[in-house]
Amino acid sequence: MKKKIDLFDYSEAIMKAVKNGVLLTTNGDKVNSMTISWGALGIEWGKPVFTTYVRKSRYTREQLDKTGEFTVNIPVNGDVKHITAVCGSKSGRDTDKIKELGLTTVEPETGSVPGIKELPLTLECRVLYKQTQNTDSMPEDIKKSCYPVGGDGKPDEHIAYYGEIVNAYIIE
Ligand SMILES: Cc1cc2nc3c(=O)[nH]c(=O)nc-3n(C[C@H](O)[C@H](O)[C@H](O)COP(=O)(O)O)c2cc1C
Repeated sequence: MKKKIDLFDYSEAIMKAVKNGVLLTTNGDKVNSMTISWGALGIEWGKPVFTTYVRKSRYTREQLDKTGEFTVNIPVNGDVKHITAVCGSKSGRDTDKIKELGLTTVEPETGSVPGIKELPLTLECRVLYKQTQNTDSMPEDIKKSCYPVGGDGKPDEHIAYYGEIVNAYIIE
């Protein structure tokens, strides 16, 4: 069962959880979750929006670009450190993280990306806009700390994906 929530009644809880690590789930070739601890909850174009910042190199980025859909999966009670540790260190390119962790996927209200029962507060999102962040427009200290030049001579920039929150609920 899903309990619908008024998103902005939960904004403080959502952002506190993001700071500690939540999951961003996508479904292109397969269902895959990665840990995020950056994100923004807000309003644009008169719609509630969750913006996530995904580095170009992530498997998640490939899936997002295929489907334009994601869910954000937020713990309500309980310790999910072992889950965020695995989803934040292994890539869906090499492993099936959902299977390895024994996570329970739950059919979404719309679209193709499930929720995750173990992290039951769920935001179903549809990408409205994406933009690669230009490191030339960033302060030097952030450029240095977050964007070292890689083997290909380029920094691994973040792409900001602005997802309209089309459904928000707690899986019970
Ligand atoms: C606490 C934590 C927060 C993270 N936040 C982000 C983030 O906001 N954006 C990002 O691109 N990677 C972030 N990562 C790194 C990805 O979760 C990690 O590279 C993951 O293995 C990528 O999975 P994928 O290749 O299956 O997409 C974070 C990792 C941890 C441990």
